[in-house]
Amino acid sequence: MASKSVLIALAMVATIFAPTMAADFVVGDDKGWTLNFDYQKWAEGKEFHVGDKLVFNYTLGKHNVVKVNGTEFQQCSAPLTSLPLISGNDLIQLKTPGKKWYICSVGSHCESGPMKLAINVLPEVYSPSPAPQPGAAYGITAPSLMMAALVSLVVLIVT
Ligand SMILES: *[C@@H]1O[C@H](CO)[C@@H](O)[C@H](O)[C@H]1NC(C)=O
Ligand SMILES: *[C@@H]1O[C@H](CO)[C@@H](O)[C@H](O)[C@H]1NC(C)=O
Repeated sequence: MASKSVLIALAMVATIFAPTMAADFVVGDDKGWTLNFDYQKWAEGKEFHVGDKLVFNYTLGKHNVVKVNGTEFQQCSAPLTSLPLISGNDLIQLKTPGKKWYICSVGSHCESGPMKLAINVLPEVYSPSPAPQPGAAYGITAPSLMMAALVSLVVLIVT
């Protein structure tokens, strides 16, 4: 009996101290990934953290997304070895801090669009209530889901 309430308390603590909610950023917001949009301006003032996701939304077949390095970004040249993302709803999870560069390598979209996005990814934040980000939706992070699953498993076994 006592152990059950301890576990319930544990579950509550796990929920409260779960890592912060990660944000999903739809690149270009409702315009999506397209020509004639200023992606640098879009990225200005946004804070990207490890664990957040970028969503590139575009009509299938019209564009693509290639992760490049700084030089390639300046030159709008995708390395031949890179595999472009082509689904039209490409999800990129930000896994490491630092500068990240993305371009569309279809035709001259990178130069003329200019379909190029450079962002700076900050380390993951651990705090119970992250500052709200404009234009960002919040999802539940994998670690907190796992924690919840583990706790409920323990509750099941004990009761
Ligand atoms: C993606 O773009 C389409 C059409 O441009 C729009 O209807 C849809 O809501 C967008 N999806 C997201 C996640 O923004
Ligand atoms: C970017 O990648 C190219 C190969 O595509 C390489 O030659 C170049 O040195 C790299 N630049 C940087 C800054 O890493």
